[in-house]
Amino acid sequence: MIDERMEEAINKQINAELYSSYLYLSMSAYYDSIDLPGFANWFRVQAEEEKFHAMKMFDYVGERGGRVKLGAIEEPQLEWADHAAPFDHGYAHEQKVTGMINDLVNLAMEIRDHATVNFLQWYVEEQVEEEDTASSIVGKLKLIGKDGNGLFMLDKEMGTRVFTPPTKE
Ligand code: FEO
Repeated sequence: MIDERMEEAINKQINAELYSSYLYLSMSAYYDSIDLPGFANWFRVQAEEEKFHAMKMFDYVGERGGRVKLGAIEEPQLEWADHAAPFDHGYAHEQKVTGMINDLVNLAMEIRDHATVNFLQWYVEEQVEEEDTASSIVGKLKLIGKDGNGLFMLDKEMGTRVFTPPTKE
């Protein structure tokens, strides 16, 4: 049986992951509105990944005899200053999420919930990847600057991303 404090904290994180999904979906809609379909696709796939993050926790709470409680999801930002801004935003957002995951691990350690410490390691590793991916695209966009050709090529590349659900283990 999961400790009540842990259950509440994971429930909050489920909401945060669903918010991330919502935020990235909003970024996808923004890119669609400025005619960058590849970027729109990339964020749509990212939104799916975030939903997966939420559902993995959803299942875990149930497995541990806890109760998933869903709350309202905050309205995401709708517009950004330019085509590079959502990636700066996304990178900063992922750094914030890493902090949240670390707080969850700290709580699990504090209450000696080893199963949850173990479960959260998947997220610890995932955050390394999430930050690395976001930061590398921020870097590419800086390099490209206002070069329309470069942007066109990057958009094409981003359009090839597909969602592959990670294996459960
Ligand atoms: Fe669920 Fe992008 O962290």
